[in-house]
Amino acid sequence: MASPGLQLLLLLMALPLMQPFSLPGLDTAEGKATIAGPVLSALERATFFLEERLPEINLDCAVGFQVLKVQLQSVQEKWARDPLLQLLSLRMGKLAEKLEVLLQRSIFYLKLSDPKYLREFQPTLLPGFWKLPRAWTRTNASLVYPTFEPQDFFSEETSDSCLAQLLGTGEDSSQPCGLSDFCRALMTKPGCSGYYLSHQLLFFLWARMMGCTKGLFSQSQHYINLFCANMMDLNRRAEAIEYAYPTRDIFMENIMFCGLSGFSDFYKLRWLEAILSWQKVREGCFGKPDVKDEELSKAIQYQQHFLRRVKRREKQFTGNENI
Ligand SMILES: *[C@@H]1O[C@H](CO)[C@@H](O)[C@H](O)[C@H]1NC(C)=O
Repeated sequence: MASPGLQLLLLLMALPLMQPFSLPGLDTAEGKATIAGPVLSALERATFFLEERLPEINLDCAVGFQVLKVQLQSVQEKWARDPLLQLLSLRMGKLAEKLEVLLQRSIFYLKLSDPKYLREFQPTLLPGFWKLPRAWTRTNASLVYPTFEPQDFFSEETSDSCLAQLLGTGEDSSQPCGLSDFCRALMTKPGCSGYYLSHQLLFFLWARMMGCTKGLFSQSQHYINLFCANMMDLNRRAEAIEYAYPTRDIFMENIMFCGLSGFSDFYKLRWLEAILSWQKVREGCFGKPDVKDEELSKAIQYQQHFLRRVKRREKQFTGNENI
């Protein structure tokens, strides 16, 4: 779940940064418009790319439509009253409406192509599931693990089954906030990195959004702090190796999930600029860069060591564009 596959819509993480809290210069309408213009253009082009391929998209992408819609609507409301931002606000409203249409159409296709997965994750497609942070904080570097553990036994299937249990849609659970001993161990295991780590965070983020507070979930905030501190550490490492290609997807996923968790330090202007530069000019998607560079492939090998990818449902579109 929510594993990669939707690199492009992960740009949606760029949006909360339009809210006046984290970056210098963003406290004025001019500053906001300067950043929001290019971000909106990128989102419009990316949305167009997906619209053209709707029958092929996966569920994570449909979830991306919903999350982006929620973010756009929130910013749109805040900006509607400012004369300098009204035009951008209108554009956001238009894009949000389009995303709602695309969401409904993609659900139609997913019913045909992946009904079981759709049923399990349906709650995350409903309005009101995704809640934006009400308060903002920053990651705490003292929570970073001394070392990362090897993580050979993690699979997206087991992680998905734990998420379904949490949602109350799994085969062995009909109540929301479900948690087996197996999932408790999997989702709290220390020392994880890559997609394992981002799924652990997603698990507790969803638990918080769903209002689960009993037992382990009374410590959700502790785990969210812990996981995002480590995701920040990994993102800094990704930056240090100049975002060598395979790390870009998890880099953006980390920003999306921890941004939604309320960590404003994931919204860095230089990270946003880097991400915008990855969008393919012609297609509008975020795919493999066309680079032949030995240095790059070395960096890739190094990074794969760190960030083992578990990408069962990654969606490859023709022409190697990997959204
Ligand atoms: C960071 O975490 C450590 C260890 O839990 C704690 O002692 C410290 O107060 C935290 N720092 C901040 C700024 O919250």
